[in-house]
Amino acid sequence: MPELAYVNGKIGPVEEAVVPIEDRGYNFGDAVYEYVASYGGRLFRLEDHLARLSRSMAGLFFPPVSIDQVRDAINELYRASGIERAGIYLQLSRGVDRRDHPFPKAPVPQLVMTVRPLKEKPAHLRKDGAAVITVTDFRWGRCDLKTVQLLPNVMAKQQALDSGAFDAVFVSDAGIVREATSSNFFIVSGGMLMTHPLTENILAGITRQVLLEIAAEQKIQVEERFFTLEEVFAADEAFLSGTTTEVLPVVTIDGNPVGDGKVGPLSEKLFATLRQAAQE
Ligand code: PDD
Repeated sequence: MPELAYVNGKIGPVEEAVVPIEDRGYNFGDAVYEYVASYGGRLFRLEDHLARLSRSMAGLFFPPVSIDQVRDAINELYRASGIERAGIYLQLSRGVDRRDHPFPKAPVPQLVMTVRPLKEKPAHLRKDGAAVITVTDFRWGRCDLKTVQLLPNVMAKQQALDSGAFDAVFVSDAGIVREATSSNFFIVSGGMLMTHPLTENILAGITRQVLLEIAAEQKIQVEERFFTLEEVFAADEAFLSGTTTEVLPVVTIDGNPVGDGKVGPLSEKLFATLRQAAQE
């Protein structure tokens, strides 16, 4: 199963793929991205990822990019890989130009991608649940745009790993629990699901959306509202949602148990239902 890269129309080995040093993604983080997973040879919710990509580009005033061409490129790369369960990383930068802060006069967005087998989360994490830490949200004010400016996420994730946890959850100065470094965050209270509403402070996760659809189908009550850490500790269950985490139970936060400190039944059920939906 080859790991392949795509650079502006050319597909080849990842090790040989290069971009110019004056790509604005490299100099300024002036780029947006998506990460799409496949199940059983099909890309899950590709159209939703493309719609979000469009929103991210619009939010940064990118010049128009043909989503049809991006879709074709993704499908071409995915087919070339022959990987059943793949992760495709896609990045679109504003373009290449002499390093200067203002937008270039006639920017030509640059598309790069990689495809490789998706690394599944370790079985013990799924079975026993994950430990997370909290960090103050020190990201910029447009976390709804999926830009490659991920240094705060990188720093928070490393801090979590260094302290023996799996991930970090960003909490606002006012004590509102937002999301994790590459996942959304849910709690379960009395059979009801709760997650942060869609604002500029979190990413509109595709998995989050799929879970809300599943909840509606299964008549599980949902509240999209702000909640604090205190409410998380009073909850029965908590979990992360995302393309790579899928539904990953959180059993401790900063060393303190959530609910009874064990993986909860609704988290397990939602994970199973999500997998089923993805494989249909
Ligand atoms: N991250 N919140 C943040 C900050 C994210 O980076 C992601 C996704 C999510 C979940 O979104 P989705 O369900 O659409 O994957 C929430 C991807 C996986 C990444 O950074 O690789």
